[in-house]
Amino acid sequence: MSTITDNTSLKLEKVFTEAEDFLPLNGTDYVELYVGNAKQAAHYYKTAFGFKSVAYAGLETGIKDRTSYVIEQDKIRLVLTSPLNSEGPINDHIVKHGDGVKHVAIWVDDATKSWEETTKRGAKSYYEPKVTKDADGEVVTSAIHTYGETIHIFVERKNYNGVFMPGFKKWESHYNPSDVGLKYIDHMVGNVGWNEMNTWVDFYKNVMGFAQLVSFDDKDISTDYTALMSKVMTNGNGRIKFPINEPAEGKKKSQIEEYIDFYNGAGVQHMALATDNIIETVTALRDRGVEFLYVPENYYEDVLDRVGEIDEDLAPLKELGILIDRDDEGYLLQIFTKPVSDRPTLFYEIIQRKGAQSFGKGNFKALFEAIEREQENRGTL
Ligand code: FE2
Repeated sequence: MSTITDNTSLKLEKVFTEAEDFLPLNGTDYVELYVGNAKQAAHYYKTAFGFKSVAYAGLETGIKDRTSYVIEQDKIRLVLTSPLNSEGPINDHIVKHGDGVKHVAIWVDDATKSWEETTKRGAKSYYEPKVTKDADGEVVTSAIHTYGETIHIFVERKNYNGVFMPGFKKWESHYNPSDVGLKYIDHMVGNVGWNEMNTWVDFYKNVMGFAQLVSFDDKDISTDYTALMSKVMTNGNGRIKFPINEPAEGKKKSQIEEYIDFYNGAGVQHMALATDNIIETVTALRDRGVEFLYVPENYYEDVLDRVGEIDEDLAPLKELGILIDRDDEGYLLQIFTKPVSDRPTLFYEIIQRKGAQSFGKGNFKALFEAIEREQENRGTL
């Protein structure tokens, strides 16, 4: 469901022609998190992030083993799921990983073909294509494994008119906080273990037909203590971008390694949510209690020398701790939340693109130094 709003440049078109179209993808359909208490998580995402209630499944809809809340903001759809009993795969996932992303669902026109094309190229099947139906029509889904215990579900919903999926009912709530201007998922980042980045880059290249957009190495992204390597994979139309991070040797534990330790393996590190007005969005998020990484004030002393002229006043950006970076095509504004659960694992990025198609490489050093201060506070540096 996410889309690129910026003009694609010649450079991007060149990269995108490398992406193959045996697996046409319309965008992200939904992201499902397994959490310890879905009811309270849904309240948090509504209150703090401005999502709205959409659909519900649980005992009242005939589901015996779990409860799921579906929430949306513009094109971003999250599903929050908790188990209702003491055993089973959802419990196992939560015990091992804490709250985290289980399913990254991708909207396709043909979920059967998507499964066939990916499994014949080496994807490990999670489940074969299956049809679920209710009075509103039918949905076809299929699923494959990706890094860690994360799953890609292919969702074909062209013959469905219901609120979300068969098994869900509309979630009517009297509590409907206003949105904060979040529009779509710009990119979603996976952290993988030592020496695993290229395995997953090859997976997205060969199994999913993605192309590599930008690459960094540990010389690009390092501070005194932290180092990482990152490669960005994109599908053919650019609507889905998955950067893959791998830790690199630093003097002390890198934030990627810390993630891997607390998540007990590879998983989704952050989702970047796009806005058309980052100052308004971040002001609203802060007012509602979302915590962002602290950026040292001295970051702003020379930032305009680095990035040149920007449309925004610097004062509110500095006040909010919003970072700025520029590439050949324009600039971008971005900010990162602190982890949203007690384990230092999943966090969110808020991003506004003003032409730039990159991911804030120039900010990585300033950002990592900010993250290291947090790690130091947790005693995990
Ligand atoms: Fe990001």
